[in-house]
Amino acid sequence: MTARSSLTIVLAAGEGTRMRSSLPKVLHPVAGQSLLAHVLAAAPQGTGTSLAVVIGPDHAAVADEARRIRPDTLTFVQAERLGTAHAVLAAREAIARGADDLLIAFGDTPLISAGTFERLRAPLASGAALAALGFRAADPTGYGRFIVDGDRLVAIREHADASTDERKITLCNAGVMALDGRRALAILDKIGKANSKGEYYLTDAVGIVRQQGWEAMVVETSEDEVRGINTKAQLADAEGVMQARLRRAAMDAGVTLIAPETVYLAADTTFGKDVTIEPFVVIGPGVSIADGTVIHSFSHIVETSLGKNVSIGPYARLRPGTSLGDGARIGNFVETKAATLEAGVKVNHLSYIGDATVGANSNIGAGTITCNYDGFKKHKTLIGKGAFVGTNSSLVAPVKIGDGAYIGSGSVITKDVPDDAMALERNQQTIREGGAARYREMKTGKKKSEG
Ligand code: UD1
Ligand code: MG
Repeated sequence: MTARSSLTIVLAAGEGTRMRSSLPKVLHPVAGQSLLAHVLAAAPQGTGTSLAVVIGPDHAAVADEARRIRPDTLTFVQAERLGTAHAVLAAREAIARGADDLLIAFGDTPLISAGTFERLRAPLASGAALAALGFRAADPTGYGRFIVDGDRLVAIREHADASTDERKITLCNAGVMALDGRRALAILDKIGKANSKGEYYLTDAVGIVRQQGWEAMVVETSEDEVRGINTKAQLADAEGVMQARLRRAAMDAGVTLIAPETVYLAADTTFGKDVTIEPFVVIGPGVSIADGTVIHSFSHIVETSLGKNVSIGPYARLRPGTSLGDGARIGNFVETKAATLEAGVKVNHLSYIGDATVGANSNIGAGTITCNYDGFKKHKTLIGKGAFVGTNSSLVAPVKIGDGAYIGSGSVITKDVPDDAMALERNQQTIREGGAARYREMKTGKKKSEG
């Protein structure tokens, strides 16, 4: 770890027209988090680091997302898109504070890792004025080409301005650049727009650094890490790369994935020891899974905390605000939302438990529904410890079921049930001896003996 201070500027003023979406490009998700969140998470963190995001006009939602991730993130609006160097200079005020290292990244390149940012900083610590991230492109069309002399960078030539020979170069500019913070403004202010697009190219920083007699260095990485996203197809490709990484990291941490390619994880999923995830499970953002828990096939889990030795599914849907205590069991076709189920609770079949708390070791029978919504407001169902709710019960909230209470099957419970009480709400059963036989006779016109 370097003791040098840093400012990371993330460029995100692009329109993202090719996404064909009303959502700003950098807010589209990969592994449950926005593209911007991934880049900001990879940028240097902690003491002596600062972050800035350059956004387009009318992109307040991008600024909100940046501050959600790190509240002290500075945001700057680039009113007109006049090129990548122009975008960087929108954050002039932040650059002028003079961090040791200025790092520049694109908001639509979410697969970049923290280690790569650190590798880019190393040449600056040894006195270079600039380090740029390059990769060997399978198809270099459209990228800026690196003209090098060993590991020194001589120039970056944009595709549109490159000669036929230069276009044959496959070492391309990923777009991530590190500049010595004290010399950065002097370099950036010299960039002009005498090129085929008439834009202020950040890539021209290389030539300027060389003219000053300073050093510009190349740092290489794999193409997978610097995939930019312009289309929904590229978004899906990045998701694929990210999922492969997350599955690999989960397995390296000891999680058993029986068919890893069928399991979707979020970037923030956390796992304890000896967790097993069966095929076809989708885990969204905000999920933590403690030791020994098993998630059976076809379950969908979002913003949920799972205790130790919990069993989920198959076919369970755990929605935001679910919290399950140690040893709890959620079976097939059970949905939960804003529900705290304490240790040892069982909800094994066909139930909806929403806006509810269920005390330790209670048993919720098949088909139990917490009726939490009256068409206007949500209401709470509070169930005590060691309670037994019989099958096919409707618990009409707000309602409270005491510790150790017993609800008879098929009840519609609208009044609180005290501790250790039994509540039954259904009509008396009637028996008509021979009634079924008489009914059949009536329908078929035949007596049984004649049949
Ligand atoms: C840029 C690089 C190119 C590199 C490629 C990698 C330059 C001049 N070229 O080209 O060498 O190979 O990325 O993908 O830097 N942006 C703004 N404001 C602007 C212009 C751009 O915020 O005025 C942002 C965009 O939102 C995007 C990023 O900067 O996130 C890159 O811009 P883009 O237009 O995609 O540059 P490329 O032509 O792809
Ligand atoms: Mg681009």
